[in-house]
Amino acid sequence: MSKPKVVVTRRWPEAVEKVLRELYDVQLNEDDVPMSTEQLQEAFRTADAVCPTVSDRITAEVMDVEPLKARIIGNFGVGFNHIDLEAAKAKGLVVTNTPEVLTDCTADLAMTLLLMACRRAGEGERHVRNGEWTGWRPTHMMGTKVTGKKLGLIGFGRIARAMAHKAHFGFGMKIYYYDPYPPSEEVENHFGAIRCDTVEELLPQVDFVSLHCPGGGSNTHLLNAERLRMMRRGAYLINTARGDVIDEAALVDALREGIIAGAGLDVFEKEPQVHPELLKMENVVLLPHLGSATVETRVAMGMRVVENLKAFFAGEPPRDRVV
Ligand code: DGY
Repeated sequence: MSKPKVVVTRRWPEAVEKVLRELYDVQLNEDDVPMSTEQLQEAFRTADAVCPTVSDRITAEVMDVEPLKARIIGNFGVGFNHIDLEAAKAKGLVVTNTPEVLTDCTADLAMTLLLMACRRAGEGERHVRNGEWTGWRPTHMMGTKVTGKKLGLIGFGRIARAMAHKAHFGFGMKIYYYDPYPPSEEVENHFGAIRCDTVEELLPQVDFVSLHCPGGGSNTHLLNAERLRMMRRGAYLINTARGDVIDEAALVDALREGIIAGAGLDVFEKEPQVHPELLKMENVVLLPHLGSATVETRVAMGMRVVENLKAFFAGEPPRDRVV
């Protein structure tokens, strides 16, 4: 029997590409250049499985091809707001993602941003590299203390809970959260977490707000000008979720007007473009969507796609089926 044809849209870790080569008739993207709409359409027309990632736009147009050969979209990534799920469903395509394996590394990066933003680490690093440092002095680059402060989590899923673990047990932070689907009392009690019934209830109570909800839909611009104004002056906003959850223009205004003290951002509204005003601000830490970017995690994400494909082609239900 011939091997299923699999198209991978970007470069994946070597160890995973090796496995894919062994198992499938695979088309890899060794140059790592993003595929055009036409190239993606060709993939859906000619392959049994298309394996995109969060920077590909899998729109209805991309899937609307004749004949449609693909039967599964094996996404490399936990988020899937770049895939039109309704269109995929209408075309009978199965969609899978890669949850769990990136939980800790993404939470680690959220903590990194939190610490960097309030301890002025990016600013300090630039200061040293620019040769501006004149030596230790009692008032030099004073930041904000983290230990014992209040952390508000918007979304209390896997990544938020991993962050709560690090923040609460590592830094003695008091955890507040908002999630439309709250966890069991047992989970709440584990962190001594305080549930808020609305985002509005959470924002004024905490020193740090960290976003852990999906992007798109009603979460687009969840943090708008009005809600940013509800945050404490002196508070910090951390985003490792999706860029569109924050109205970036409103964030620029809030930072400029001192409505909040700073921000740590790993995701942006129009990636890879970053609002030009954010680039000029010292009180903002900017990272290039690095949440899951460790060798261990990226290999595990790729292997999770392989596991999903294997199950699918064996006629079994893939573990991480989204649609
Ligand atoms: C995801 O998986 O959705 C992240 O944004 C990238 O790891």
